[in-house]
Amino acid sequence: MKVTIVGAGAVGASCAEYIAIKDFADEVVLIDIKEGFAEGKAMDLMQTSSLNGFDSTITGTTGDYSKTANSDIAVITSGIPRKPGMTREELISTNAGIVKNVTENIVKYSPNVTLIVVSNPMDTMAYLAAKSSGLPKNRVIGMGGALDSARFKYNLAMAMNCPTSEVNAMVIGGHTDTGMVPLIEKANRNSIPVAKFLSAEKQQEVVEATKVGGATLTKLLGTSAWYAPGAAVSEIVKAIALDSKKIFPCSAYLTGQFGLEDICIGVPCVIGKNGIEKIVEVDLSNAEKEKMQSSAEEVRKTNALL
Ligand code: 2OP
Repeated sequence: MKVTIVGAGAVGASCAEYIAIKDFADEVVLIDIKEGFAEGKAMDLMQTSSLNGFDSTITGTTGDYSKTANSDIAVITSGIPRKPGMTREELISTNAGIVKNVTENIVKYSPNVTLIVVSNPMDTMAYLAAKSSGLPKNRVIGMGGALDSARFKYNLAMAMNCPTSEVNAMVIGGHTDTGMVPLIEKANRNSIPVAKFLSAEKQQEVVEATKVGGATLTKLLGTSAWYAPGAAVSEIVKAIALDSKKIFPCSAYLTGQFGLEDICIGVPCVIGKNGIEKIVEVDLSNAEKEKMQSSAEEVRKTNALL
């Protein structure tokens, strides 16, 4: 299992670290355009191998895509992150060119790769990669929903004063401050609906905090977050590597599912060795359907800027 991570910034390095620590990949290649940066991050991470007890090898390269040849999975984190006050959509003019170029280079050396797109605006970048890569659409996965769902679970656990391991919850829709659709009606604590523990008002507070989860961190950190994004990517990579068939909400290219087509947006996906092996068309309430439709309209507006 060879995994390439494009972009050795905070998110890329965090992905590499979690993938290494979980120790399921043989080889991780970090690639960046900044001279020596990926090599340095790889060396620093490798020096943790005896401390953290992993056998995966991590190498770095400055822009040499031949070193990424025959990757099974490539994670695209390249591009600029948002600054406080910015939306993810405002990054499109810079990041679209970068993501298209990276996608072409990756596919040139790894024609059977599965791509995981993290760069923002993520749903539009996943759509761009799906269109420009020539890969089967099941091999292009946008990472947003796994992260947003982790934030949703954490926020619910805090509100219910319980461990996150008891919480089951999912966020679908676009990976945007306004378009996320946290499925609060389906969220539960050990099979008991969260409504048993939280007032309608508290549930709404959790939903709103989840939608702006990334923006809240950007304000605190001065740039966008990396630990939870890196951990979320590593779980999707692991599900592919181990062919585990776990369900994650991912930005998938839709061909009619949820009444949507020719768009990448967050929906529940079974993830295994073939990437997105199945899109699960969970029944949505009328309110959830409406939110999903307006989220899709928002994503389409950003796609139109490509
Ligand atoms: C976030 O929500 C980076 O978009 C990512 O933190």
